[in-house]
Amino acid sequence: MKFFSKVAGAVVGMAVLCGGTAEARDWSVIKSSGTMIAATEGAFFPFNYFEGPKLTGFEVELAEAVVAKLGLKMEWRVVSFDAQLASIRQDRFDFAIASHGYTEERAKSVDFANPHYCTGGQIAAAKDGPLTMDALKGKTVGVQLATSYYDNAKKIPGVQEIKTYKADPEAFSALRAKKVDAWISDKWLIKSTLEKNAGSGIVSGEQVFVERVSMILRKNNKELKDQLNNALAEVVKDGTYAKLSQKYFKTDISCHQ
Ligand code: ARG
Repeated sequence: MKFFSKVAGAVVGMAVLCGGTAEARDWSVIKSSGTMIAATEGAFFPFNYFEGPKLTGFEVELAEAVVAKLGLKMEWRVVSFDAQLASIRQDRFDFAIASHGYTEERAKSVDFANPHYCTGGQIAAAKDGPLTMDALKGKTVGVQLATSYYDNAKKIPGVQEIKTYKADPEAFSALRAKKVDAWISDKWLIKSTLEKNAGSGIVSGEQVFVERVSMILRKNNKELKDQLNNALAEVVKDGTYAKLSQKYFKTDISCHQ
């Protein structure tokens, strides 16, 4: 009986360890498979977005360059932003690149690679709308769900209501439709989005906070993290990073500029 329960315990333990770990991949396993599996969202222009059926953007091209340096093929998974942290812990992909800013809260459940750009959350609103944190008193703000914009909007005193949207373009649309008074999002994204939508009547305002953006990966996967960091450093060194930054932003958005 004692023996039986020991064996049963071991079997249960193994089932727990193996449960859902079809892609619990360490670097050696990834390497021998020849393919990296990465997740992104595809709705965060111009970092990761769809051009027709094609997934592209600064982060998509950057990740492809990083993975090519590692001598691997890339397989993309499109995962909604708010599901990415949880799915990484379920090992559905090897890393995610979707503009995750470093936060201590997130770092409890995932690891962050070295930052691939530095940025900030910024207010945008109609020309005569609330463009500063002060002006947001009594106003409504639209943000994407599960983002640092939400966390930081909550800290602005006097904001009347924060409305959350599944994806960032919906928050921008809500602002244009006057369903909210202001929108908080990434400063580079706002710049690019306003350039693309000339005539929207929306302008950018005060910066609310700063953040460093990185790829995220399963916790304690040190070898994979080192590989990604080394490959990222090589992509910076060989000029690919600068080329992509110029292509998408006409400036250097790295943390070292
Ligand atoms: N930088 C923000 C954050 O870390 C927003 C990221 C949103 N990314 C996306 N692909 N929609 O929370």
